[in-house]
Amino acid sequence: MNKVLDCDMNQIVKPILSSAATIAVSEPKPVNARERADNLFERAAWIYTFCREKVFRDDTGRIIRAFWPAGEPPASSKVLELGCGPGFYARTLASRFRQISVLGVDSSKQLVRYAREKAMEKALHNCAFEWGDVLNLPQPDNSFSQLVTSRLFTILPERERAVAEIFRVLNSGGKCFVAEPRFAFSASIPLLTMRAVARVNGYSREYREPIKATVLRYPHFCALFATQPWSRMKTWRVGRYQYALCEKD
Ligand SMILES: C[S@@+](CC[C@H](N)C(=O)[O-])C[C@H]1O[C@@H](n2cnc3c(N)ncnc32)[C@H](O)[C@@H]1O
Repeated sequence: MNKVLDCDMNQIVKPILSSAATIAVSEPKPVNARERADNLFERAAWIYTFCREKVFRDDTGRIIRAFWPAGEPPASSKVLELGCGPGFYARTLASRFRQISVLGVDSSKQLVRYAREKAMEKALHNCAFEWGDVLNLPQPDNSFSQLVTSRLFTILPERERAVAEIFRVLNSGGKCFVAEPRFAFSASIPLLTMRAVARVNGYSREYREPIKATVLRYPHFCALFATQPWSRMKTWRVGRYQYALCEKD
């Protein structure tokens, strides 16, 4: 059953924030240690790619309806997929709408390489991929009209900073669509499998990614996105996923 909560910023989200002032939406960050640690997505990229393409929910329809309710995006649309992994949504949107331009950014060079190769195979000239850090995007303010991020916050320790970057790079009238798992057990299976395979292949046992996915409880999920002054924010849950659609004035 679909549960939809249209978060009015003043009535719902701000009380959540104020009544839960102690809620930590991001955890303390051992940034240097983390940056030194190995990147699990470099060691077992194919496992994640398989899960993304064959196992996880495909939210393309939801994304299109949220971004372009009339169904057809204007040619000026510039879409960013953050933490794109194998670039599933970036490539799907670029393939569906050849008039838009799409950029995918990810910190795994393996996954960026895979995403580029797949885009080239399909001659997606409107789709590019860059290696980068969602916490320090090189793009200037107001660069994109739409932004997608899926399953990123389960492994990101500095979540508020990522949301601030999302807000910064979106232009006026821009929209951000977020899809995150709700249940730690199922969300952790790909991470645990990647660790096991990396270990069998003789790689490190220490990774920057958490052993288990850190899934946000729904009030925390709402509070995280309410850290930026969106003109409108809607959050909802469907089965194993929670969603946010945020709009910037
Ligand atoms: C769980 S995967 C999600 C991939 C894809 N968005 C999906 O829907 O399946 C998280 C992705 O975020 C990337 N990532 C993690 N931290 C990042 C960072 N600081 N900057 C950019 N990408 C990051 C990882 O390399 C990985 O590809």
